Amino acid sequence: MGADRREGRVFIERQDHLRFFRPDVSEEEIAAVGEVLRSGWLTYGAKVHEFGQACAKYLEVDRAVPVCSCTAGLHLALEALDIGPGDEVILPALTFVATLSAVLHRGATPVLADIDPVSLCISPATCAPLLTPRTRAIMPVDMGGHPCDMAGLGDLARQHDLRIVRDAAHSFGAREHGRLVGQGCDATVFSFYATKCITTGDGGLVTCDDAALAARMASLAVHGMDGDAWQRYGDKGRWYYEILEPGWKYHLGDPAAVLGLGQLGRADDFMARRTAVAERFNAELGDLPGVQVPQVLPGMTPAWHLYLLRIDPRVVPGGRDGLIADLTANRIGSSVHFIPLHHHPAFTDLAATFGDKLPETERYFAEAVSLPLFPAMTDQDVTDVVTVVRASVEASRK
Ligand SMILES: Cc1ncc(COP(=O)(O)O)c(C=O)c1O
Repeated sequence: MGADRREGRVFIERQDHLRFFRPDVSEEEIAAVGEVLRSGWLTYGAKVHEFGQACAKYLEVDRAVPVCSCTAGLHLALEALDIGPGDEVILPALTFVATLSAVLHRGATPVLADIDPVSLCISPATCAPLLTPRTRAIMPVDMGGHPCDMAGLGDLARQHDLRIVRDAAHSFGAREHGRLVGQGCDATVFSFYATKCITTGDGGLVTCDDAALAARMASLAVHGMDGDAWQRYGDKGRWYYEILEPGWKYHLGDPAAVLGLGQLGRADDFMARRTAVAERFNAELGDLPGVQVPQVLPGMTPAWHLYLLRIDPRVVPGGRDGLIADLTANRIGSSVHFIPLHHHPAFTDLAATFGDKLPETERYFAEAVSLPLFPAMTDQDVTDVVTVVRASVEASRK
């Protein structure tokens, strides 16, 4: 289908709204959730345990703790690693507020790092100059599903005795040099929020190599108890429990866990479809002057949670805002990931300290637009997005 231009804007004849994201939930998954709802066990139980074990197997890790969100998992990981007041934690300015909230709620001091312009993640080069004797941890974010340079960050962490809490909200199923994200950090935290690679509605997972750390996180996620509700009320239950330390109510529930089990069974198919859509966007948009399709570092296999396009306003004067206006007028959803942390009114102190030290983050934010990318997109949906992006960019350049 070609594009038509009216009042300086681009139009295609799209009947329905192409949402920025629509989760793919199967009838089998709906039935499985229904079965749990009928079972009489609605909270943390056998299905959560089964889901945790299935995730560990899928990710080829020894330990995986299901939690109610990635946000909760990040907080738990920092707490279980005893990172708190007086400690500095390096994280990207280009992330969702959850990464920062975990640091702030631990009473630690956030230090904002710039991104590598290719991966859009923080790197050893952007983190090293920020190290001080108080630096205790780095929280890299796999931006859009592109794995960060974990080998380089791991070296930095070893040299300076730092912990790494990886925010892998976007990168479930991604690989770095063949190895699945989830291995090799002190803690790796995934999100199963509705838009993510697999979903439990809301939910998350923490993986780690250390058995004691995993046990502490699992306990902190159920108020610091020495057992959980399933152990108390299950058929081998006992009423007595002890609180080992004050914790949080951060665990997942069985209805979400069965949805997750279904999604996990389809994770490879989701990944294949996401990759196919991304490859079509790359092939059909990559030649446009002023348009930068996502770059992939050698050896990296992104999860393609997001498709992060850049529009250079020096070449395309309408910039990304012009493109977003055209996408919206054509009933195509889009987004921007992310408004850098220090741009928010709550964090003016961070703007004062770091605002002039983040040139790649600022450049990226000025150019960024995220296109719809999800497994249930049809080939026609992809064609529509390509048609509008091409026509909008070409119209803006004339
Ligand atoms: C980079 C990043 N970290 C953390 C989160 C928080 O995930 P959740 O909604 O599971 O808490 C998100 C959510 O979108 C995210 O994009």
